[in-house]
Amino acid sequence: MSKAKALIFISGNGSNLQNIINNIHSGYINMDIVAVVSDNPEANGLKKAKIAKIETIIIDMSKDDLLNLSKVIDENLIDIFILAGFMKILPEEFINKYNGKILNIHPSLLPKYKGLNTHKKVLKSNDSMHGASVHFVTSELDEGPIIIQGKINVTDEDSEESLKKRVHEIEYQIYPIAIKWFTENHIKQSGNKCLFNNEVLECPIEHLSE
Ligand code: GRF
Repeated sequence: MSKAKALIFISGNGSNLQNIINNIHSGYINMDIVAVVSDNPEANGLKKAKIAKIETIIIDMSKDDLLNLSKVIDENLIDIFILAGFMKILPEEFINKYNGKILNIHPSLLPKYKGLNTHKKVLKSNDSMHGASVHFVTSELDEGPIIIQGKINVTDEDSEESLKKRVHEIEYQIYPIAIKWFTENHIKQSGNKCLFNNEVLECPIEHLSE
């Protein structure tokens, strides 16, 4: 099977990026990261990309920037777009053009708590469960078909900080699995559904970790 070619989009720390790099180095994921794209020139994740000798591209989301990015994408025949803490909303045109190839990780059990401050919302609602979801990206924010979720139990001792840390641990488990499935053609997006080995997933796959 040929090696998938990826662009990874970040805005901040890039710990998921680092985890994906580690999973490529260990041989778990068979993929080349063609470039790491950031809207934030100060993103810590850019240092991680440079250490791993991966090209970096800074975009300000202007039409010109996105056009240039499209050229890089088309010239390199990019197979997969991985959003890993990318805080900007991609234009609808971009999402439609690369429909079915864009994955995102979100720190909540979608469809609960789209958008920001998910840990705070979980605590405020006294939820007993929390977690992370990997989904295909559509033009509706955090709405695309969900591939896999990992769950944690929320305890009385949890704070926003502890939930952030514990959910990140789940993310480091489920994102490589989803990426591996994608690069091995096990998962596909079909409209607002996710197919696994060509069968519709009626609900997201639950990753059992705790
Ligand atoms: C993660 O919690 C991810 O779910 C969200 O942004 C955060 C990125 O963290 N989309 P990092 O930059 O990978 O450390």
